[in-house]
Amino acid sequence: MSGPNTEYDPVEVTPLQAEEVEAARDAALAAIAGASDLEALKQVRLDHAGDRSPLALANREIGALPPQARKEAGQRVGQARGAVNKALAARTEVLEAEHEERMLIEETVDVTLPTDRVPTGGRHPLTTGAELIADIFVSMGWEIAEGPLIEAEWLNFDALNLGPDHPARTMQDTFWTEPAENHVVLRTQTSPVQARTMLTRKPPIYVACPGRVFRTDEYDATHSPMFHQVEGLVVDEGISMAHLKGTLDHFAARMFGEGIDTRFRPSYFPFTEPSAEVDLRCFVCRGVDSDACRTCRGEGWIEWGGCGVVNPRVLVACGVDPETYTGFAFGMGIDRSLMFRHGITDLRSFFEGDVRFTPAFGTEL
Ligand code: DAH
Repeated sequence: MSGPNTEYDPVEVTPLQAEEVEAARDAALAAIAGASDLEALKQVRLDHAGDRSPLALANREIGALPPQARKEAGQRVGQARGAVNKALAARTEVLEAEHEERMLIEETVDVTLPTDRVPTGGRHPLTTGAELIADIFVSMGWEIAEGPLIEAEWLNFDALNLGPDHPARTMQDTFWTEPAENHVVLRTQTSPVQARTMLTRKPPIYVACPGRVFRTDEYDATHSPMFHQVEGLVVDEGISMAHLKGTLDHFAARMFGEGIDTRFRPSYFPFTEPSAEVDLRCFVCRGVDSDACRTCRGEGWIEWGGCGVVNPRVLVACGVDPETYTGFAFGMGIDRSLMFRHGITDLRSFFEGDVRFTPAFGTEL
């Protein structure tokens, strides 16, 4: 049996009067009903159900009541708090639903509205194409080399075993600069970068050289006085034609897709011996029923570029010992390769600045 409650204090227990508790409950319910959004309801919760709210304080006073009064007061306060909490939960649910509905309306996007966005351009297909080619070689551990567009005649021709009277000089129609005695040309090929590379660094050499070249060609669907080539040069010990074939097969597969074979046809270039033309398996007919194929004109193969084993005379001219080192080289048109890759039929598309062409073929995914 508990003894008399000596801490009974009539001032402290005032809030426990029935009317007070009801008033506190009603005030809470009115505030809850009046809260117009979740933010306002948060404050109402603090004021009327928080630790310092009248009902919470009243609850704490119950312990101070004489035992016979505790039960009734406890029930009264408990019911009031229960009613407040229930009202809070119900109001929260309503306000949350309202909030969600409002967000749906406010954030609705009318996908049928006309756009006023200015169309964006694209990088030029030759830029992205040259980068793609550079990536293929860099991923094999090669370096990228560059040379000037305005080149010494000696580097463009003589160093590559194309002496002044060599008949093959006429194979490339050259833009000469004046005065003629300076012996400077617009480079007709990227091959002079081979000579520059060998003259400035020691083997082992593994370089790819993409760049612009110039010839006095007509401007039509397959020719242009300015176009692009990529040159490859390897000089190392024990390099053979087999390494060249393997490299070009890999290049072709990365550039045009797996399964595009290459083949060599005997040819002649002064800077390589032996020399070959490299053909690609026609990517349209793949050599099957080629007679009807307009892309390869019944050949089953498409001419891609030139290549060969570096002529020892070129090695000597560029200060490399042909007793120790051998090498291979190749050169192909970048524009031409991209025409194959994308099915572009007119070379002039690359140079005429039609903004519809650029993003369509310059975007690599
Ligand atoms: N420079 C040659 C051309 O423009 C292409 C070429 C053929 C480059 C054979 C080479 C090569 O490096 O070995 O026609």
